Amino acid sequence: MLRTHTCGELTIKDINKEVVLTGWVQRIRDKGGLIWIDLRDRYGITQLILEEGRTNTDTINIVRKLGREFVIKAKGTVIERISKNPKLTTGDIEIDLVEVSILNSSKTPPFTIEDETDGGEELRMKYRYLDLRRNPLKESLLLRHKLSLETRKYLDSLQFVEIETPYLIKSTPEGARDFIVPSRMNQGEFYALPQSPQTFKQLLMIAGYDRYYQLVKCFRDEDLRADRQPEFTQIDCEMSFVEQDDILDIFEGMIKYLFKTLKNIELDSFPRISYQEAMERYGSDKPDTRFGMEFIELNELAQNKGFKVFDDAELVVGINASGCSNYTRKQLDKLTDFVRRPQVGAKGLVYVKYNTDGTFKSSVDKFFDKETLKEWADKFNAKPGDLLLILSGEKEKVRKQMNELRLEMGNRLELRDSSHFKPLWVTDFPLLEWDEENNRYHAMHHPFTSPKQEDISLLETNPGKVRANAYDMVINGVEIGGGSIRIHDRELQKMMFKVLGFSDEEAQEQFGFLMNAFEYGAPPHGGIALGFDRLAALFAGKESIRDFIAFPKNNAGRDLMIDSPSAVSREQLDELGLTIKKN
Ligand code: AMO
Repeated sequence: MLRTHTCGELTIKDINKEVVLTGWVQRIRDKGGLIWIDLRDRYGITQLILEEGRTNTDTINIVRKLGREFVIKAKGTVIERISKNPKLTTGDIEIDLVEVSILNSSKTPPFTIEDETDGGEELRMKYRYLDLRRNPLKESLLLRHKLSLETRKYLDSLQFVEIETPYLIKSTPEGARDFIVPSRMNQGEFYALPQSPQTFKQLLMIAGYDRYYQLVKCFRDEDLRADRQPEFTQIDCEMSFVEQDDILDIFEGMIKYLFKTLKNIELDSFPRISYQEAMERYGSDKPDTRFGMEFIELNELAQNKGFKVFDDAELVVGINASGCSNYTRKQLDKLTDFVRRPQVGAKGLVYVKYNTDGTFKSSVDKFFDKETLKEWADKFNAKPGDLLLILSGEKEKVRKQMNELRLEMGNRLELRDSSHFKPLWVTDFPLLEWDEENNRYHAMHHPFTSPKQEDISLLETNPGKVRANAYDMVINGVEIGGGSIRIHDRELQKMMFKVLGFSDEEAQEQFGFLMNAFEYGAPPHGGIALGFDRLAALFAGKESIRDFIAFPKNNAGRDLMIDSPSAVSREQLDELGLTIKKN
């Protein structure tokens, strides 16, 4: 080793030791007679000191040539610091420098390598290796590492086996677009990168590996957001001979284990609510339950009183923004503007102020008397000082709009504390989703999810009403994972493809391998996949997953550092049979 110690480990116990450290120059302070260097590596920062008259001149001369981010090897003695720095583990000591050598020089970095940097997003993406030197990113990657280690420990202790599945596969329909890879040896044919190992893990169940897991890269060509990358990692799992509750128990156990081990947080058992209930109470299948503000439906109390907007609506629904009756006209106008934004899409917002003196002031005073407003307030369990916010319209739309407003109020009232964790399971998702554009049903989860036994008879008569044995794990309003009990019967799978609009030939062509396998003793099975990047971000209280991936893509799907995607040569295209040859 070039070093005897790292930059994060020397303390007062090491006084008088002769040591050799290596690392990057974080900072140099040259006060004439005295020079200090902050030397940094992955483990921390250690201060080096030189003094004119005491340190030999050669060493001082070399040090005067150093710049930020030079890589050096420093030899010296550990001494006690006069002015200590309680913020650093190494803050009680410094190294009295005897000898220094430059292992490599560095250009001046394009942004400062500090916890708070001056570099913009683009620049930092371009020089990702420099950004990764900064503490916040380093912490993120170390957290990710620990998460993967503990995940493996937990699953291994329960007899799960990690098995790798291929990356060059055939398209599986999981809702997003595939990334396609041309085959040189089979010209005109293509592999697809897996959106998930879904069909492979099911085949592993048929092969008898009854508890499988894999920390696995998945690829989806979809529009990107803070919590979506084109390549991301799943904790992908599958089990045989289990029912839904077994899976929920085991993976709830895993999350509890991870929170306890990594954060020393004991989570309560996760509430389990149906999709239907989630939509009624929160207008979302991934509700943020760190705060209440649950939906209250007002149809009975608000309709048929002469206010046409409410009378014509399928649903009148509100939330109670507790303690907000003092909102000014301006603040209320801002909220109205918020719900009117095209992304939210409401036409207007009705408010009722339940003033601290017990009086009411509402935007619909013309239509409703005080008694009616009091009835509403009672339904909301409101007290003087509260503010009711009400929307109306088509049921599905208005619930979505109210969900946005609820989250906005949660933000404004600072009720979404990233150091609090509120997990839950959402179960009983609809099996199918109607696609207006293409006039057909889509699998809401994927086509291998089983319908609820009691709903199977509806498959041919009223497919939209069929519920699935599907579940999502939601924490703080983020979909952390999803899974289902699968179909393991060829006939039922065939019927499912039919409902999804596949002809028998298409189904056989695309999924023959799975349906054939169902004929060789497929056990009942089910599973789940958790978004590993999302889990890491959540643990750190962050919304964006980007900093939990060493080399992520930007929102346009580009890697700015290696500049990909990029054009390839004519020869490469020819070899792949992707160019039209002129005769
Ligand atoms: P699903 O498509 O719900 O299920 O994905 C599982 C979890 O993966 C995470 N995730 C993503 N994370 C980052 N970027 C993305 N683009 C992205 N897309 C999804 C989410 C999500 O909950 N095969 C099924 C699982 C199963 O049925 O067992 C599947 O992939 O956290």
